[in-house]
Amino acid sequence: MTSEELKKKYLEFFKSKGHAIIPSASLIPENDPTVLFTTAGMHPLVPYLMGGSHPEGTRITDVQKCIRTSDIDEVGDSWHLTFFEMLGNWSLGDYFKKEAIEWSWEFLTSNNWLGLDPKRISVSVFSGDENNNIPFDQEAYDIWKSIGMPPERIYRYDKKENWWGPAGKTGPCGPDTEMYYDSGKAECANCTTEGPACDCGKFAEIWNNVFMQYNKTAEGKFEELSQKNVDTGMGVERTVAILNGQKNTYDTDLFEEIIKKIKELATNSNQTSERIIADHLRAATFILGDEKGISPSNLDQGYVLRRLIRRAIRHGKIIGITKPFSFIIAEVIIQKYKDDYNELQKNKDFIIEQLVQEEEKFSKTLARGLKEFEKISEHDVTGHDAFILFTTYGLPIEIVKDLAKENDISVDEKNFEIELKKHQNLSRTATAGKFKGGLADHSEETTRLHTTNHLTLQALRTVLGDHVNQKGSNITKDRLRFDFSHDKKMTPEEIQKVEDIVNEQINNKLDVSFEEMSVEEAKEKNAIGVFEHKYADKVKVYKMGDFSLEICGGPHVKNTGELGHFKITKEESSSAGVRRIKAVLQ
Ligand code: SER
Repeated sequence: MTSEELKKKYLEFFKSKGHAIIPSASLIPENDPTVLFTTAGMHPLVPYLMGGSHPEGTRITDVQKCIRTSDIDEVGDSWHLTFFEMLGNWSLGDYFKKEAIEWSWEFLTSNNWLGLDPKRISVSVFSGDENNNIPFDQEAYDIWKSIGMPPERIYRYDKKENWWGPAGKTGPCGPDTEMYYDSGKAECANCTTEGPACDCGKFAEIWNNVFMQYNKTAEGKFEELSQKNVDTGMGVERTVAILNGQKNTYDTDLFEEIIKKIKELATNSNQTSERIIADHLRAATFILGDEKGISPSNLDQGYVLRRLIRRAIRHGKIIGITKPFSFIIAEVIIQKYKDDYNELQKNKDFIIEQLVQEEEKFSKTLARGLKEFEKISEHDVTGHDAFILFTTYGLPIEIVKDLAKENDISVDEKNFEIELKKHQNLSRTATAGKFKGGLADHSEETTRLHTTNHLTLQALRTVLGDHVNQKGSNITKDRLRFDFSHDKKMTPEEIQKVEDIVNEQINNKLDVSFEEMSVEEAKEKNAIGVFEHKYADKVKVYKMGDFSLEICGGPHVKNTGELGHFKITKEESSSAGVRRIKAVLQ
């Protein structure tokens, strides 16, 4: 079974059980500042698990793109990945344990669906947590038994194994029941955990049904949620591997072309390096391709992205790739995924340019960094060494760790993190200070500039063409900053034209109003918006006379006549293929 078939079957199955299919959300969480990436399918659904009403109803199913970097050191083995797709079905205060478990069983074992051998499946349920007064999950246990699961294949695990969430530091969480598939391998000799949760490779966890009935508060307390939810997650990569009797995710159709291309470019072979390159560049391509337009940097998501790309490049050197190659692999990845994630195709130029730039930048410092590492490698790497290797020589911590391993020395990661945090916090305070005026101030000035944003975008499209899309914006009470896709410096004449058009629309005293509609209707009306996977429900469409129609949450002024005189004060490059203007209202 191919990955495509699996995804299709999953969605079809849950559709037949009354679930609405929704598109994958962005990899960058919208409403959760406590984590950098969307780590699970439930993450974008948190507001609804907490009781908010979802426009598509109380039964939802989807395939969500996810990034988890906590296991980055394990990448290269058979199963661990930093990017993966997660199949999920949700009950938002609708069905609970009985239906969730029975449907999981039906989907896994029925010949109409996956048709796995029931005898090879084991399960686990939550054993309870005395400290927090959460009992053994008798209900889940009984349901499994009633389905016919022999009691000796129903394992009881504690919080470490059978508890899930919250995705960030607070939020919905609960006990879970997990399903494992027996690979048929002989028992491992040095199993650390009894039963299928052992990492020895005999069993693979294929599905996790979380019964989200608690909310973890900022004080670390578990409160009963007002509604009982189900959150399930099945990893596409590992399930495809299991269905095809493959021993690892890299043998699946998802990686076939990627690994093939890597081997083609290499002059020697090293399985771990090939896998790290494939995994890291897949994650990097998806982060770059996300509508949020993240670029490699030393902060937050950009920092993770930089580490992924650079580690892939270094492993490229290990297998003898001498020319720039990350973009070549990205092209294969985009080709494989573009039908399911059309943002990759849309942002292809950006992905490629960013990879080329980062590879160029890194290639310049890599040789120096390796030399520097050699100098210090007579002793264990201190936190400060690792910090200097990154900030001065561009070697991310993963590369330092790889090198240390190769030289049989250790790295003081803890002190590295402490020094890096200090450094990042300094730059963050600097940025936060600058930003505060804009965020703290919801005054009329910011509303006026926000309305001006819409006029500016439409004017830019009129003058430069319809390829212009918004790539970012930041408003303070004094000015607007607007990033947009365009690959050339604007000429003075173009800047003048944009100013003239905006001022003309201000003088025309256009009425500003909005209407709520579905994304389809918005598209039909030719509203401007980022038409990737961001809007699943009803959206607000703001109209400014007949001049501008744009999806936006507001707020805006009532009439463009309130805006004043528009002037562009600066036009510059923001990143590859993206220009930035600053403008004021006088
Ligand atoms: N949230 C759970 C997981 O990520 C189930 O979807 O495994």
